[in-house]
Amino acid sequence: MTPQGRPGARAPAAGERPAAALLLRTRRLDAFYGDYQALAGIDFEVRPGEVVGVIGANGAGKTTLLRTLAGLLPCPRAALEFQGRSIGGLPANRIVALGIALVPEGRRLFPSLSVEENLRIGAFARRPGDWNVGRVYELFPVLGERRRAGATDLSGGQQQMVAIGRALMSNPSLLLCDELSLGLAPVVVRDIYAALAKLTAQGLSAVIVEQDVALARSTAARLYCIQEGRVSLEGDAASLTRERIARAYFGI
Ligand SMILES: Nc1ncnc2c1ncn2[C@@H]1O[C@H](COP(=O)(O)OP(=O)(O)OP(=O)(O)O)[C@@H](O)[C@H]1O
Ligand SMILES: [Mg+2]
Repeated sequence: MTPQGRPGARAPAAGERPAAALLLRTRRLDAFYGDYQALAGIDFEVRPGEVVGVIGANGAGKTTLLRTLAGLLPCPRAALEFQGRSIGGLPANRIVALGIALVPEGRRLFPSLSVEENLRIGAFARRPGDWNVGRVYELFPVLGERRRAGATDLSGGQQQMVAIGRALMSNPSLLLCDELSLGLAPVVVRDIYAALAKLTAQGLSAVIVEQDVALARSTAARLYCIQEGRVSLEGDAASLTRERIARAYFGI
């Protein structure tokens, strides 16, 4: 038996936060597309109940990070820990079943399916829990009104709500959100982030990738800035100045 009493767990090194105090951790995480290295040595943490923001310029590696956490890109077993267990390289459906759900960049709804059918797809490989279509409609009432509409007949904001609802249907403890605000009107962004705040107030942890730095700062307790596949800055959102963020963002 390991010190934490779980298979795959290991004792923390001196000065390290014990694994039990973390929901998720990466250790020197790399990611590749063929020969191209998109992430290099990323150390990233999410504490239970925390909202963590990930910012960075186009092509920095934000989506690659989320895709790796969600099991969509290969990863050595020890490079990714969730709830004290090494889970790197597990297939995406196993990672969903452990409680990590991705709201992907571009939403990726099934255009030929209705709102409700898209939501039900999120329940495939779910872990046990309280989420169902009724609860999603309570969170986003407009989706209940449009439950039989084709997913692509919805506005961009409504499609984003479906993508979030679909992720919630798997009963996650950690929600990975990739650019929720992209292409949406400010009033819609406000509604979506208000819904996210309700979820995190209920104890859901979240990683939010955002191009809108002000939105990331106001939503997340801690921020990571990624630049060319590396963490260029991390810290409490409240303590990072705009100047430090701008330097880390653009590498100037
Ligand atoms: N499927 C792929 N094949 C090859 N290279 C890729 C692929 N996807 C992304 N990349 C490259 O990996 C790097 C990181 O891309 P990624 O999509 O993670 O960035 P990002 O920070 O999410 O950018 P954006 O803000 O534009 O969404 C970029 O240089 C990108 O061109
Ligand atoms: Mg991206």
